[in-house]
Amino acid sequence: MSDRIPVRNPNEIAKLRRAGEVSARILMDLMPIVRPGITTKEIDNYAAELFRREKCGNAFLGYGGYPGQLCISVNEEIVHGIGGARVLREGDIVSLDTGAIVDGWYGDNAMTLPVGRCSEEALRLLAVTEEALFRGIAEAKQGNSLLEVCGAIEDYVRPFGFGIVRDYVGHGVGRHLHEEPQIPNYRPSYHLPRLKRGMILAIEPMITLGSFRVRVLDDEWTAVTADGSLAAHFEHTVAVGSHGGDILTERPRIALPEQLGITL
Ligand code: MF3
Ligand code: CO
Repeated sequence: MSDRIPVRNPNEIAKLRRAGEVSARILMDLMPIVRPGITTKEIDNYAAELFRREKCGNAFLGYGGYPGQLCISVNEEIVHGIGGARVLREGDIVSLDTGAIVDGWYGDNAMTLPVGRCSEEALRLLAVTEEALFRGIAEAKQGNSLLEVCGAIEDYVRPFGFGIVRDYVGHGVGRHLHEEPQIPNYRPSYHLPRLKRGMILAIEPMITLGSFRVRVLDDEWTAVTADGSLAAHFEHTVAVGSHGGDILTERPRIALPEQLGITL
């Protein structure tokens, strides 16, 4: 089981950090263009420019036939939304998910942004989802079971009554976008491995204001909430460390309650 999960040495982690830094920079460089009136295709086009500027590979474009530069998922869209004619409007929330390849090493990260002024419940969803990610990261330490990462996310989110998406999960990442293990955002019934220092995890809670149930649109990519409720998605690539996950896709937090002017 856990012997199928690669353990990376410090030299390899340094390379993964470079890929993570590029992935994070592309994500952050997209932030200022997210505003009412822009189409998701324009965001995708701008991402193409950023990938060119970084001279890195794109982990998503062409992956399993994925047609976009990044995933752009609006409101009830959870993950894998494709840039198109949809226009962002004030009050929307939009999840951006980017992955860079540098020297054959992969980074993967995501965040959900408010578009202009948003409802308090939308902002609460963002704050809870970002914090859930950090609760999981804190448990990504050597000697823990992966179950403690998954359980920390579930335990944090559950009291809010929000939906925890089950059909999509986090994953190992490294020489490929998706490696062992799978990382559910809840305690699964199947066995989970013990964590070793140097395992690389992409932790990515996907949380909804309603049902956890998912439907995939006719484009065969875009996953939406079955009940049309809002969904948020935050992701970091981390290396399992001695005191918790070492974030390889470092960026400032954007959804602390005090940043959003809300209380949880
Ligand atoms: N973070 C997402 C994932 O790990 C992004 C994948 S998009 C894809 O599944 F297009 F590459 F599939
Ligand atoms: Co991912």
